[in-house]
Amino acid sequence: MRVVVTGGAGDLGARVVRELQGMGHEAVVASRRTGMDLASGEGVAEAIAGADAVIHAASNPTKAQAVDVGGTVHLMDAVRRQPAPPHVVYVSIVGVDRNPYPYYRAKEMAERVIGLGNTPATIVRATQFHVLAAYFARMGAGPIALSIGDMTIQPVDIDWVATRLAQVATGPRPAAYQHHADLAGPEVFTTDQLSRLIAEHDGRTPPKVVRVPAIGGAMRSFAEGDLVPTGDVETGGRSFREWLAAQPVPLPRGRH
Ligand SMILES: NC(=O)c1ccc[n+]([C@@H]2O[C@H](COP(=O)([O-])OP(=O)(O)OC[C@H]3O[C@@H](n4cnc5c(N)ncnc54)[C@H](OP(=O)(O)O)[C@@H]3O)[C@@H](O)[C@H]2O)c1
Repeated sequence: MRVVVTGGAGDLGARVVRELQGMGHEAVVASRRTGMDLASGEGVAEAIAGADAVIHAASNPTKAQAVDVGGTVHLMDAVRRQPAPPHVVYVSIVGVDRNPYPYYRAKEMAERVIGLGNTPATIVRATQFHVLAAYFARMGAGPIALSIGDMTIQPVDIDWVATRLAQVATGPRPAAYQHHADLAGPEVFTTDQLSRLIAEHDGRTPPKVVRVPAIGGAMRSFAEGDLVPTGDVETGGRSFREWLAAQPVPLPRGRH
């Protein structure tokens, strides 16, 4: 199959491309570096021409309205103009329908854009990748880690998400728009638990976790556990502990 991966050079997208190639499919990277700009719409129709499936993993949290929403409008417009529209698989985030955080709102809006017209499409929401969970658990400074209220998180292995996306895109084509089960890792953690595990990994004293009050809808939603799936969920991939054990000491900082 010919599968176009938007954002195919990003953290997740590059893994999806490798996975598709390993399965014997033709994987095509589509992003600004290959001449496709979702925000302006330039090169989108050319990028997806002849695709059997499109895995939509391009995103820009700092320009989410232009790239995630507007870009998805451009993408779906091009998809619907194809003589045989490809199956679109969109990577979203667990909780986007419950949390008013602007990036999440944009992702939910992108889901809705994909649903318009009932083109064959699958929405796959995933929880935070392990590296992002570790980033959250190290917000703060020195011996202090910050937690938004009693926030919980069920981090997931990015490689497993990439594998499942490749399998969904190359598997049976749905007749219409559908939601896949949420993808999540095997365990739910509090910030205290994550920061303790990271401190053990790094060989230092665990930080004191200070709870910051949840002010505003987005923070309240984080604090109330909306990052953790509540409905149909598929768990798999390396656990956070297994992932952590494979990381350098000390664990590098950063979201990626
Ligand atoms: N990180 C997490 O924990 C997590 C969890 C669940 C779901 N997700 C979702 O997974 C997806 C991928 O995340 P990621 O961390 O892999 O992102 P990433 O590494 O930042 O990659 C995003 C890619 O999007 C492309 N892009 C940005 N602006 C573009 C534009 N205007 N036109 C075309 N392409 C553009 C970039 O390529 P160029 O620079 O070449 O344009 C980049 O390679 C996102 O939708 C995210 O919401 C992430």
